Amino acid sequence: MRAFTAQPVKAGDLEQILAAANAAPSAGNLQAYEIFLVTQEKQRVLLARAALDQFFIAQAPVVLVFCANQARSAPKYRERGKRLYAIQDATIACTFAMLAATALGFGTVWVGAFDDAAVERVLGRDDLLPVAILPIGYPGEKPEPTPRRPLADLVHG
Ligand SMILES: Cc1cc2nc3c(=O)[nH]c(=O)nc-3n(C[C@H](O)[C@H](O)[C@H](O)COP(=O)(O)O)c2cc1C
Repeated sequence: MRAFTAQPVKAGDLEQILAAANAAPSAGNLQAYEIFLVTQEKQRVLLARAALDQFFIAQAPVVLVFCANQARSAPKYRERGKRLYAIQDATIACTFAMLAATALGFGTVWVGAFDDAAVERVLGRDDLLPVAILPIGYPGEKPEPTPRRPLADLVHG
C-alpha cells in the first residue's frame, strides 16, 4: 500500500498493532530492538525525505520505525547478536506489526530503502540501526496482488 487516506488511526488500534509487535519472538527474549512512533507531520515528511523521497510515507497518519538495538544483544550473543539477532528481532517485530495492521484493515508497506544516517537524525539516535520504516493508514488505493515465485521453485527437498 503506497497511498493512504488522512483518516486517523484510533489509539486502540495502534495499541493492538504495537502489542502484536511486542509479542514477536526474539533471540533469548532480549527484544533487541526499539520502535519509534512518528505521528507529527513534520517528522513524517523528514522520514519520507530520509527514505529517498518516498513521500507516500508522509501521507500515512502513523509511521513506525523499527531499529535494531545491537547493544542489547551483544553482551549475551556477541558478534552474532550484533550482526544477526538484533536485526532479526527488529524484522520479526515489524512483521508482526504489519500483519496486525493488515488484520485490522489498515494498509502498510515495508520500507527498507533509506539513508541510515538521515533516519537516525530524524529519530535523534545514533546508537541504533534502522531496519524498517512502516507507514500505517487506511488504504488510499487498491493495489493489484503481486506475483510470487512458484512454491516448487523456492521450496527445496
Ligand atoms: C526488505 C524490504 C525492503 C523494501 N523496501 C521498500 C521501499 O523502500 N519502498 C517500497 O515502496 N517498497 C519496499 N518494499 C516492499 C516491496 O516492494 C513489496 O513487499 C514487494 O514488491 C511485494 O509486494 P507486496 O508486499 O505488495 O505483495 C520492501 C520490502 C522489503 C521486504
